[in-house]
Amino acid sequence: MKAIQLSQPGGLDRLALVDMTDPGDPGPGEIRVRVRASSLNYHDYAVVSGWIPTEDGRIPMSDGAGAVEAVGEGVSEFSVGDAVVSGFFPQWLAGEAAVADFKTTPGDGVDGYARQVVVRPASWFTHAPKGYSHAEAATLTTAGLTAWRALVVDGGLKAGDTVLTLGTGGVSIFALQIAKAMGARVISTSSSDAKLERLTALGADAVINYKTTPNWGDRVRELTGGRGTDLVVEVGGPGTIGQSITACRIAGHIALIGVLTGRAGEVPTAALMAKQQRLQGLIVGSRRHQQDFIRALEVTGIRPVIDQSFVLAEIADAFRLEESGAHFGKICLKL
Ligand SMILES: NC(=O)c1ccc[n+]([C@@H]2O[C@H](COP(=O)([O-])OP(=O)(O)OC[C@H]3O[C@@H](n4cnc5c(N)ncnc54)[C@H](OP(=O)(O)O)[C@@H]3O)[C@@H](O)[C@H]2O)c1
Repeated sequence: MKAIQLSQPGGLDRLALVDMTDPGDPGPGEIRVRVRASSLNYHDYAVVSGWIPTEDGRIPMSDGAGAVEAVGEGVSEFSVGDAVVSGFFPQWLAGEAAVADFKTTPGDGVDGYARQVVVRPASWFTHAPKGYSHAEAATLTTAGLTAWRALVVDGGLKAGDTVLTLGTGGVSIFALQIAKAMGARVISTSSSDAKLERLTALGADAVINYKTTPNWGDRVRELTGGRGTDLVVEVGGPGTIGQSITACRIAGHIALIGVLTGRAGEVPTAALMAKQQRLQGLIVGSRRHQQDFIRALEVTGIRPVIDQSFVLAEIADAFRLEESGAHFGKICLKL
């Protein structure tokens, strides 16, 4: 089978298309999956570019979707032909957060899905939403589930709430779609006026260019009659958290998801405290969260926004597109 391997110390020129031994038949409790698609996340970019060191020869990519080719003894949840999608934390099945690192995450601590076939415990996958293409399903593992957990599981989103999303990457576009489908008002930012138009077309109620309006937190306050938003999907990190605190209402919820502006920095703690806001760090979610999310997708009819798809051999080009920031929504790999 074909696969991509990353040699250390990482870098897009260290991604190689290789032939690997077929993993064979599934053992008890396992399934054999023909991987058809993956999708790119900032975390995968950090791994392949060498910011996150990993084992030499690691197969990258956390997200994987495809079809079940064989089931091992004792597996009753899946049948041959089922469309499935991988989980980000294979051992976190349900309950409160149980992991604080990426040691078990495919494409980081263990081999990922940039390969044609995988044999893994059945619990490492869930069913994909009915009617989704494999590429659409592959966008759910990381970006989709993170947006769902930020808004619904941790944020307690309800109809009538106002949500703020930052930028037009995979997580933020999912957050916009989920919030709109659930009856919320959405304010979205971007650095590009052309992308702001696309956000409006997707349903954003108000948009702000964060480059030309550096104090966008105040603008959000104006747009909400001085109240601020109920929820903020914070993907920027230290460079945006101050504005997010300004934009969020008293006792509102800020889901701290991303590090797009850096891994550490100043947080205006007095403002956060004075406004009595909840700042919740989160990393993706559990298998149970993924199953709930997929059920919601089937009912709401949300379809992921895919900017572009690349074949496996073009993986470095796919990451160059992500690096450029020119994309809107998700970038996929098709196998
Ligand atoms: N905690 C978790 O579980 C989790 C899960 C997934 C992702 N993440 C993190 O969340 C972040 C976003 O991930 P992603 O996969 O959605 O990334 P992505 O698809 O690569 O998104 C990049 C987009 O972010 C926007 N952006 C960049 N700098 C910004 C800034 N200063 N203010 C506002 N927007 C900015 C840009 O949008 P415009 O071009 O429109 O300006 C850019 O196109 C990353 O830091 C990633 O590591 C965390």
